[in-house]
Amino acid sequence: MPSYREFLRSHRVMLAPLAGVSDRVMRQLCIEQGAQLTFTEMVSAKGLSHGNERTEDLLEMAPNEDIVGVQIFGHEPEVMAGQASRLCETVGEKLAVIDINMGCPVRKLVTKGDGSALMKSPELAERIVSAVVAASSVPVTVKFRRGYEIDNETAPEFARRMEQAGACAVTVHGRYAAQMYHGQADWGVIERVVRSVSIPVVGNGDVVSGASALAMMEQTGCEAVLVARAARGNPWVFAEIRAALEGRPAPEGPTPLQRVEMARRHAHLLYEWEPRALVRMRKQGSWYCKGLDGASAARGMLNACKTIEEYDLAFDQLEQHLKGC
Ligand SMILES: Cc1cc2nc3c(=O)[nH]c(=O)nc-3n(C[C@H](O)[C@H](O)[C@H](O)COP(=O)(O)O)c2cc1C
Repeated sequence: MPSYREFLRSHRVMLAPLAGVSDRVMRQLCIEQGAQLTFTEMVSAKGLSHGNERTEDLLEMAPNEDIVGVQIFGHEPEVMAGQASRLCETVGEKLAVIDINMGCPVRKLVTKGDGSALMKSPELAERIVSAVVAASSVPVTVKFRRGYEIDNETAPEFARRMEQAGACAVTVHGRYAAQMYHGQADWGVIERVVRSVSIPVVGNGDVVSGASALAMMEQTGCEAVLVARAARGNPWVFAEIRAALEGRPAPEGPTPLQRVEMARRHAHLLYEWEPRALVRMRKQGSWYCKGLDGASAARGMLNACKTIEEYDLAFDQLEQHLKGC
């Protein structure tokens, strides 16, 4: 079996886990545009252990998803190990990696000791990783932040501990948990983590284009990049990053009409997957509209849509408007 570093060398551009956003439809569109590995939204190990249906839904794969990374969160080593083992069986050969979320700063998780709270309990974090590694037949990675409190950079030491506990790679998001998503990501910490460990490091934070992906890899020595917010309403970012990393000229970006066409397709795929999932199109639609002429009117229109027919009508109107520009 190739090492995880070798795997990353042929999967250098990944779609990040994005709760409420990176569902199977978004992942399908990002893969079409060149994402080489896609992650599920974070999945609660506890929820899985209770057979929670909505948690299980998060594991549904896209039709073109030959491999997937599943991200789990929790704080109980036994529960996480048990669910990791079950994931290896149920997802089967398509499961490329299990990632453990130790970076989420959201209150709901942190108050329970999950997500980035684990950066404040490195011994427990180590026990979780050891237990999950022992229970899994696939590589296990950990995603975390620069540190928890602002100006207390613990990521390099934390990464060493994760390596010792058996992680195959770590993903570093260059912001402190307390920063949430504010400010610029610090790429220096990614480079410091690369120097601290011998396992591969995936860089994350503010990769928004081919140029920024190349710059992050050059400046930090990370093996791969993980793209999150820049992919919202913009699956084409993966084509651009792939071209940059492969030394090809940047592809033409989408025209305004191609944006609307993709948004329409996104809506239809959501509807075909699960009619209730169409509600997600409100957020998604507003991301596709970003920068379009008449974007705020278009957002208003999409926000009022409930049925697929209403979405189609809204997209028709938007197309007419753009053709008249
Ligand atoms: C809406 C939203 C949901 C997110 N959900 C997750 C998640 O489920 N798991 C995770 O590890 N990170 C999650 N993140 C963090 C991203 O994966 C990523 O680390 C962060 O946005 C920084 O990358 P970016 O600058 O490319 O956006 C989320 C971020 C946002 C904005």
